[in-house]
Amino acid sequence: MTGSRLLALGHYQPSGVLTNADLAKIVDTDDAWIRSRVGIRTRHVAAPDESVDAMASEAAAKALAASGLAAEDIDLVLVATCTATDRSPNTAARVAAKLGLRAPAAMDINVVCSGFTHALATADHAIRAGSATHALVIGAEKFTDVVDWTDRSTCVLVGDGAGAAVVSASDEPLIGPVVWGSVPQMGNAIRIEGEPTRFAQEGQTVYRWATTQLPAIARTVCERSGILPADLAGVVLHQANLRIIEPVAERIGAVNAVVARDVVDSGNTSAASVPLALSKLVERREIPAGAPVLLFAFGGNLSYAGQVIRCP
Ligand SMILES: CC(C)(COP(=O)(O)OP(=O)(O)OC[C@H]1O[C@@H](n2cnc3c(N)ncnc32)[C@H](O)[C@@H]1OP(=O)(O)O)[C@@H](O)C(=O)NCCC(=O)NCCS
Repeated sequence: MTGSRLLALGHYQPSGVLTNADLAKIVDTDDAWIRSRVGIRTRHVAAPDESVDAMASEAAAKALAASGLAAEDIDLVLVATCTATDRSPNTAARVAAKLGLRAPAAMDINVVCSGFTHALATADHAIRAGSATHALVIGAEKFTDVVDWTDRSTCVLVGDGAGAAVVSASDEPLIGPVVWGSVPQMGNAIRIEGEPTRFAQEGQTVYRWATTQLPAIARTVCERSGILPADLAGVVLHQANLRIIEPVAERIGAVNAVVARDVVDSGNTSAASVPLALSKLVERREIPAGAPVLLFAFGGNLSYAGQVIRCP
């Protein structure tokens, strides 16, 4: 095998939905501020007893069913998350147990909001190296667990959910080379720390970095895959903020692409956002099978990772 490909996708969002009007009842905010600053209208919020691994398992079960593979075919599970409930068993092991997988390597990967594209690259590398054949790659977060519901500057931004992909060995490399990295000196601009653990960020620093530095890196992702931005059929950026997504997509030059705007309905779901948005686009058949799609995630650590994939 010379590469890997996305075989199938699945996603899950909790049934609880919080509107901007709902938030205006608990903090001093309003729909106009939230929509104008970040473009979010609603976000899904998990129930207190709804865990990250339960959401991850729901998304993974859908992706597995859509792939036509059996549970025992999966030999690698990677879960991108920064809101894992416990250190052991990790989220990947819990998903593997829930799905009845036989003996997979099972790892959590924490690169905050850019975790999924890091995990996808890791699965691709494992498959190319001959260490795995069929991988489940999942992004799952209960981001609402780590916000202060009295802090209007953060609680309006986040949501919960999960997205999953089955990634399999392929004769053709249909997951392009990853471009990944970080800005360690600016890592403190996004923090999820303390007791209780709380999300905080220097919003304007992150905004400036994302809108000025990321378009050129995303263009390099396309270049490494031999794809012109104008030939992209889809662009799925980390769903942090519409005021980042729209200018970055424009600066990439993806003039013919469907640009994912799931943040409007789902808020920022951290590592879940890219697979969640991609899975919805594919479910709605907005991107044809085989068409090139840029995935590009960014966030905590001021990290980034992206690749061009062929739509399943
Ligand atoms: C977070 C973000 C929306 C904040 O917007 P901003 O224009 O930078 O806002 P500021 O933090 O400067 O605050 C401006 C004012 O709005 C207020 N404000 C903050 N949150 C508010 C809310 N939910 N409702 C109403 N007012 C709010 C602030 O208190 C401040 O008021 P003041 O001027 O009286 O002090 C913006 O910085 C951003 O999108 N950054 C990128 C962050 C990101 O995407 N991170 C995720 C990466 S994974």
